Amino acid sequence: MSIHTKKIEKKVTVSTIRNMKSVEPITMITAYDTLFAKLFDGKVEMILVGDSLNMSFSGKPDTLSANMEMMIYHTKAVCNGAKLPLIVFDMPFGSYTTKDRALKNATRVYRETDAQAVKIEGGKERAKIIKTLTNNSIAVVGHIGLMPQFVRSEGGYKVKGKNENNIKALVEDAIAIEKAGAFALVVEGVKSEAAKAITDAVSIPTIGIGAGIDTDGQVLVWSDMFGFFEDFKPKFAKQYLNGAKLIKNALDEYVDEVKNRKFPTDEFTY
Ligand code: KIV
Repeated sequence: MSIHTKKIEKKVTVSTIRNMKSVEPITMITAYDTLFAKLFDGKVEMILVGDSLNMSFSGKPDTLSANMEMMIYHTKAVCNGAKLPLIVFDMPFGSYTTKDRALKNATRVYRETDAQAVKIEGGKERAKIIKTLTNNSIAVVGHIGLMPQFVRSEGGYKVKGKNENNIKALVEDAIAIEKAGAFALVVEGVKSEAAKAITDAVSIPTIGIGAGIDTDGQVLVWSDMFGFFEDFKPKFAKQYLNGAKLIKNALDEYVDEVKNRKFPTDEFTY
């Protein structure tokens, strides 16, 4: 098997991402801290400091209780570790309910962190909010399809794009978001025909998660793809590593060595 190991050598910008549509698939991964961000640096074009950290990092049942303070804290940590990817700040639930609130909070993101863009969940109903941000020089990534911040109002995580009417509505959402000035669009949890229709309808890149092969790029949550989050395995999240097993095995070895006075040996002693 040949593995693509192209190293990214220059800082990725909004224009880099825009220009990748139909040229080269975009890679994006989530990160929440410096340690992992450093490992991802130079390997992916984009890092999302996702509000999914509220679940995998903070142990909450959904993303809804994430807030600006914690997102800013984690984004600063990620920016300290990753210098080359374009870093996207995920606007938490309730932080962009009005144009003024969205502008105040997104301005805070630019002032207090080195993130280059913010991500907002929602369709055409969010177009005015996105326009307010882009009019004020804040780069925006949209997010349509299955939107985790709607989990309570929709009564669960629902796959979208299952019929013609819904595909049409998703395409309209995507066009409205592009017109509002977003430079990229996350498309989550939709049937692959819907993701293709959305991707064909807009000139900004689409980044899929659980949306099939036809989007302009892919994003995965790091703890899912590296097998650290054991509570739930989404169908779309390919596990590239069994991180939990590796950690547990290593920890068993450490505990065994301490209990049996095999660690530290002379090699690890002053
Ligand atoms: O919060 C997150 O990690 C996300 C991805 C699922 C796209 O929004």
